[in-house]
Amino acid sequence: MKILILNGPNLNTLGKREPEVYGTQSLTDLKEMIEKAFPEDSFEFIQSNEEGAIVTRLNQCLDEPVDGIVFNPGAFTHYSYALRDAVSMLNIPVVEVHLSNLHARESFRTKSVIAGACAGQISGFGLFSYMLGVQAVKYRDTREG
Ligand code: DQA
Repeated sequence: MKILILNGPNLNTLGKREPEVYGTQSLTDLKEMIEKAFPEDSFEFIQSNEEGAIVTRLNQCLDEPVDGIVFNPGAFTHYSYALRDAVSMLNIPVVEVHLSNLHARESFRTKSVIAGACAGQISGFGLFSYMLGVQAVKYRDTREG
């Protein structure tokens, strides 16, 4: 399978950013972890601080052989209807992931406007949230019905 690992704003600073919340590992560590765990799959890793760039990349998935997306929209999670719309139009599994447990944090983080358009949401397991996200994409692809 070809799976897109898509990260939104501020996630480029992973490892330096509030390590007590987000851990000390970086996006480079994430790439290594995923590629090692799923050698039979191919991955594209994208991070952008720009909402429009993420919309454009999601739109491209309409015409490209991408089988699923593991998506951490960062703070866009909580207010971007444009990203929700861009996810809604896709016919491939999109799994929303978060490093932190959104439900244990500020009340504005407990609401995702995007998760309802996704196959599901995984939150609270650090980098392992992405590993679970990849497994969820693969499960959605192989299950019957
Ligand atoms: C985050 C949670 C968001 O609320 C926050 O804005 C982020 C990271 C997470 O992975 O825990 O940027 O998506």
